[in-house]
Amino acid sequence: MNKRVLVTGSTKGIGRAVVEKFHDKGWDVGVTARDEANIRELTDQFNQKRQNSAIGIKADLSLKDEVKFLKQRLEQEWQKVDCIVFNVGSGSGTKGLMSTSSENELSLKTNYLDVVRTFKNLLPLVKKEMGSTLIFIGSIAQEINVKAPISYSYAKRALNNFAMAQALELAPERILVNLINPGHILTRGGTWEKKMEQSKTEFEEFISKNIPVGRIGQVQDVADLVFAYSNQELSNYSTGVRINLDGGTSINL
Ligand SMILES: NC(=O)c1ccc[n+]([C@@H]2O[C@H](COP(=O)([O-])OP(=O)(O)OC[C@H]3O[C@@H](n4cnc5c(N)ncnc54)[C@H](OP(=O)(O)O)[C@@H]3O)[C@@H](O)[C@H]2O)c1
Repeated sequence: MNKRVLVTGSTKGIGRAVVEKFHDKGWDVGVTARDEANIRELTDQFNQKRQNSAIGIKADLSLKDEVKFLKQRLEQEWQKVDCIVFNVGSGSGTKGLMSTSSENELSLKTNYLDVVRTFKNLLPLVKKEMGSTLIFIGSIAQEINVKAPISYSYAKRALNNFAMAQALELAPERILVNLINPGHILTRGGTWEKKMEQSKTEFEEFISKNIPVGRIGQVQDVADLVFAYSNQELSNYSTGVRINLDGGTSINL
């Protein structure tokens, strides 16, 4: 039987690149997001390439009942999963220190509390054998000043701590838990695409000042690393690893 991965928030951006990577590598994939049309478009593509290789489940992970529904559907369709990538998150809101209370609450909910709830609901579906992996997508904003909303920084910091606590907790059960903190990643319709369209010169100046390798991160960079950490042959002894994937942005001497 093929290995199975569920990626939360997998119709756009980083999540989409991750789910495409796993599918290219022969895994069966679970696509989830809120927009049903996008889910269908992607799962149809996958199933045309390989029959019955993708399932799509519409679920808003900010809602308790929809998280339960996601778990029920996965249980019906697959019973067990080999890997879950907890990708849903959002850095939107007032930048820097001036965010409002409601923005703070929403950011903490989206980037931490909702992820924890999804994790707790889905954990029973993960196979308890060496090589089963859980990957969290954080952000370098949890550690360095990238002018993100402060609420995003502390929510992602909480997520980092939660992931490390789970790595310890689940190690005896042979489930590996790792976390990737991306830096500046170009996504379709995202902040960096807009900045690039507004002023190519300013965009290039920003890169030369802030990203030592001299280029913006691509969603495929994140997908490659997520896959490496989910591939038993590469990393069945790695747990509790936190990686900044940022072209050197967070190097601190
Ligand atoms: N892009 C960057 O530069 C960057 C940098 C560092 C870290 N990150 C982190 O990487 C992750 C992905 O970011 P991204 O920029 O790739 O995001 P994105 O392009 O906005 O895509 C988000 C995905 O999640 C789905 N989604 C959003 N809210 C959801 C919800 N409540 N329930 C279910 N699905 C939901 C969206 O589909 P629907 O709208 O249909 O639900 C979409 O498929 C986030 O955790 C983010 O914090 C991103």
